[in-house]
Amino acid sequence: MSAIQIGMLAEVPEEGGKAFTVEGHAIAVFRVEGELFAIDDTCTHDDASLSAGELDPDMLCVECPHHGALFSLRTGEARTLPAYKPVKTYRVYAEGDALFVEYST
Ligand code: FES
Repeated sequence: MSAIQIGMLAEVPEEGGKAFTVEGHAIAVFRVEGELFAIDDTCTHDDASLSAGELDPDMLCVECPHHGALFSLRTGEARTLPAYKPVKTYRVYAEGDALFVEYST
């Protein structure tokens, strides 16, 4: 597991998400009330981009923009159908303005 700089913190909107490509793999980074979360960007149901989904800050979930499955930002768990498989989560942090994820293939 190694930390990889994926971009700059400023690229992630406050209370929003953005997808980054890490070694050919799409990872969605979200910022909720100043806290960072990283999960696989691709929905386990049918390949939608979760970074384009709407955040539910109270439940710390993102809603898939295609069919509405909710995924936990903290655990990656699929909380509602039609998705039932979790997405992977990654440790993400900022050092100064730079954004890092811990990623291994
Ligand atoms: S593609 Fe995400 S719920 Fe269907």
